[in-house]
Amino acid sequence: MADWSPAQYLKFADERTRPARDLLAQVPLSSPAVVYDLGCGPGNSTALLVERFPQARVTGIDNSPAMLEQARKACPGASFALADLARWQPDDAPDLLFSNATFQWVPHHLEVVARLAAELKPGGAMAIQMPDNLAEPSHRLMAEAAEEGPWRLKLSQASAAREPLPAASAYYARLKPLFARLDIWHTIYNHPLNGTRGIVEWVKSTGLRPYLDPLAPEEDQAFLADYERRLGGAYPADADGTVLLRFPRLFIVGLR
Ligand SMILES: C[S@@+](CC[C@H](N)C(=O)[O-])C[C@H]1O[C@@H](n2cnc3c(N)ncnc32)[C@H](O)[C@@H]1O
Repeated sequence: MADWSPAQYLKFADERTRPARDLLAQVPLSSPAVVYDLGCGPGNSTALLVERFPQARVTGIDNSPAMLEQARKACPGASFALADLARWQPDDAPDLLFSNATFQWVPHHLEVVARLAAELKPGGAMAIQMPDNLAEPSHRLMAEAAEEGPWRLKLSQASAAREPLPAASAYYARLKPLFARLDIWHTIYNHPLNGTRGIVEWVKSTGLRPYLDPLAPEEDQAFLADYERRLGGAYPADADGTVLLRFPRLFIVGLR
């Protein structure tokens, strides 16, 4: 897949960083020494970790060179390394493994999360947030547009969509034996956006990437127009053109 676009991703930096703040608020550690930000992206979540734990050695891990370049500029207080989380091992036993909006992209992530949890120091914590929004119109309609347009074959061959998250009970069953305390919850955000175009802009740098990647530039435009037309039926605008993007997210905090 083409590399991520930090600029497009950061168009909604405040909204995307809010769940990272909400997740960090539930981390029950006062002075961890070794902290990793898994899927650090452009460094927005890493900056929160550096601010909260100024004494810690904070390292951001990501497999996108473009994201890491932006993160190094934005967050000089941390170190960064290029790695695929599917195989990554921490150099030092972590006090905190933090991950905002990343593991949904990692195939079989529950096993990866379980493997990494076992690397934590005793008393260490793992804190993870993932969008749980594939059943929302924003994501159902991109799958529908993919299945019903002239690009159908191309997109099905590319197996465009990511997998739905397992149920909360599946995370609990797999992770409970690894933690002394395990807390799992959902939060639903409602983001006011500038019409259906705002929704397209939001998902262009994330959920739409696997759909746009296999398409030629002229197909891209037709696909986006078709998708935006479908969004119109599901997200009615208010008098000033604002739509509310309903966005459920799954949170997991475990303490070893
Ligand atoms: C949606 S961004 C999240 C960025 C940031 N953590 C935040 O709070 O906004 C997801 C990041 O995960 C990274 N990523 C996805 N799959 C990965 C993998 N297998 N290994 C490492 N990083 C991965 C992407 O490159 C991207 O930067």
